[in-house]
Amino acid sequence: MIIKRTLLTCALFISATASATTAPIIKGTNYLSPYCGCCKEWITHMKDNGFELESVYQENLTPTKIKLGVLPEYASCHTAQIEGYTFEGHIPAADIKRFLASKPTRMKGLAVGGMPMGSPGMEYGDKKDSYNVVAFDDKGRTMVWASHN
Ligand code: CU
Ligand code: CU
Repeated sequence: MIIKRTLLTCALFISATASATTAPIIKGTNYLSPYCGCCKEWITHMKDNGFELESVYQENLTPTKIKLGVLPEYASCHTAQIEGYTFEGHIPAADIKRFLASKPTRMKGLAVGGMPMGSPGMEYGDKKDSYNVVAFDDKGRTMVWASHN
């Protein structure tokens, strides 16, 4: 009986928070390795910020990265496609939202190369690396989109 009541209370709470969220959900696809946990942590971070990403598991992500314009210099562990743009690695959702809102015509997407500590999905205690989010074009030219220190 106690369990049932707890479930009901939780259900009420969930529906209350769901209706409080008015921002539309932004959908996309995330290509990731089946063996990598931090990719899933990043998807959770994105979900908490209004993105719904479908997971597509691939043993070898290199062909996908090449197809989506990700060069080895700024490659990371997962590659997402949202609204026709490419988002590589552990990018904060806020940076992606600002990018999508500006609808860039020259830029192909954003990337955080490698796996910086303290980036979304890469939280390990209070360990924090400084890292840049770069915007890249279809020739692989980059510019700094955001700096996180
Ligand atoms: Cu990762
Ligand atoms: Cu990952």
